[in-house]
Amino acid sequence: MCGIIGVTARDRDVVPLVLEGLVRLEYRGYDSVGVAVNAGGSIIVRKGAGKIADVRVRVGLDRLSGSTAIGHTRWATHGPPTDGNAHPHIDCDGMVAVVHNGVIRNYASLREELSGRHRLRSETDTELIAHLIEEGLRRGLDPLEALARALARLEGSYALAILVAGEPDRIYFARMRSPLILGLGEGVNAVASDIPALLHITRRVVTLDDGEFGWISPDDVAVYKLGPGGSYTRVPQAEVASRLKTVEWSVEKASKGGYPHFMIKEIYEQPQALTDTYNGLLDDPNLGRAAGLVASAERLYVVGAGTSYHAGLVFSYYAARVSGVPPIPLIASEFKVYENSVGAGDVVVAVSQSGETYDTLEAVRSYKERGARVVGVTNVVGSALDRESHVTIYIRAGPEIGVAATKTFTSQIMALQLLALAAAAATGRMDPGEARAEARGLSRASSVIADAIRDSEPVAKLLATRERGWRSLYILGRGLGYPIAREGALKVKEIAYLHAEAYPAGESKHGPIALVEDGFPVFLVATSDSPEIAGNALEMAARGARVMVVKPRDMSLELPQAPNIAVLEVPGGGILMEPYALTPFFQLLAYYKAVQSGYDPDKPRNLAKTVTVE
Ligand code: AGP
Repeated sequence: MCGIIGVTARDRDVVPLVLEGLVRLEYRGYDSVGVAVNAGGSIIVRKGAGKIADVRVRVGLDRLSGSTAIGHTRWATHGPPTDGNAHPHIDCDGMVAVVHNGVIRNYASLREELSGRHRLRSETDTELIAHLIEEGLRRGLDPLEALARALARLEGSYALAILVAGEPDRIYFARMRSPLILGLGEGVNAVASDIPALLHITRRVVTLDDGEFGWISPDDVAVYKLGPGGSYTRVPQAEVASRLKTVEWSVEKASKGGYPHFMIKEIYEQPQALTDTYNGLLDDPNLGRAAGLVASAERLYVVGAGTSYHAGLVFSYYAARVSGVPPIPLIASEFKVYENSVGAGDVVVAVSQSGETYDTLEAVRSYKERGARVVGVTNVVGSALDRESHVTIYIRAGPEIGVAATKTFTSQIMALQLLALAAAAATGRMDPGEARAEARGLSRASSVIADAIRDSEPVAKLLATRERGWRSLYILGRGLGYPIAREGALKVKEIAYLHAEAYPAGESKHGPIALVEDGFPVFLVATSDSPEIAGNALEMAARGARVMVVKPRDMSLELPQAPNIAVLEVPGGGILMEPYALTPFFQLLAYYKAVQSGYDPDKPRNLAKTVTVE
């Protein structure tokens, strides 16, 4: 999860544009940052380990200037986050500079081969690409040809932006299994890992496909398709033009808009995001197509990673109840478990906010190869998942910059509830009119989540400031409450760096209860399908736990008055509304706990927004 950007403009200093883009890309990695400027006969590189705000002062990034530049923000994969491993990387003579997002799998053999002929300065896989291009240039190939030959030697994933000395107004690029888009403006063109990085330059974007490479200049673009052995053909200009899309996201939407952090902004954006998801999908023909696939599935898998896996668990719950096609939920990186039993007639619902998560894409590709049909559920139009899927459902939550998934989780749930209901109608398990009425009822989700945020925030804030001694906590749920508990625990772990374990409440007495002693914090997520959870609350309270039950207001639960049992009531509205009512408390608890501890909730340590490696 590195972020890359390159900008080339007619008679204009592009370094401020590159730096602005890097600030917006920093959520993709913040181990190091660097910029290279093409000064015509030579390339100037400045880079260093650390966050952009520090590095730009330390190495003087703002003192660079030029009309063609590339930049990089790194999430380390090969070599620790040091100044030397920061991108851009250059060849032996400093004539080629490369920024890279991805992982070169044949790194070890390439390194062994190249180390005999080249002066390697870093431990990265990226530097090897610069030397491979250098070899082509030395043989007298033109830069495009040299790039094609270099790409043919690479195994793995890459999104690349490259400067070549002597080509002062060109940026070369290439894409294979890592996101890369072109931004086309007036007298300025750009290449970047994602859309928010380009919104200050242009809104006109072209998504590149795997195996495509080429160059941009201030007024022109050329895209080529890589063939075997470094051969290539030009992608017709008309085809590139037909992919041009105008992005509707505003710059403000991709910036913090007055909130101290993206995470809290995105928590507060959930009512709007749910409205957008609902409005976008209710009459989307893709929803009907996807439901047809789900309804016809011999076996139905739902696959995702992290938060997207939790949304998949919520889908499994609803689909099993209403559609009669119970899905097999699958953590993306564990896809091999079922690989050998997948066949034609099976369907995979793949859930991914970014649409670029490596494990999810590998699962999709593997199951597809065995004949399965794929329904993609993603926030990013033109993402790899979008392009791999037979049908895509867009969640339309808008850009999510905070590393922690918040609004995309609840929007994924909305999309998946709509899918489960449409599938129920398609299988005949629900009368189509009834399914449609239930789907229409989901329009209430927006106000339910707004009320839930209002009810939860003061309690989350209070606990975050008062309970400073917590070292570990449980979040228990039954039925629908269990995936919500899992998502809550993930938020608390990743943002507040506090150990939080989610467990099926009924199962908690088969081991985890051994840890419970006086004052141990235990949260219970009560959902209307599982009133038995009251018993689990009592078991924990009896052993001295500090119990907090989060429950829908319209659910009756028999709990005694006890000093160590507290109840937080959030909006009700039935089983379809409960994810929206119960999720915000845990998002807010994680957020305020992180802020109170002095952590940056938008950039949790060791994490990246989009995980594009194995
Ligand atoms: C969630 O807060 C995490 N950032 C992470 O678990 C994330 O959900 C996971 O990496 C999957 O990402 P995706 O939805 O883009 O595939």
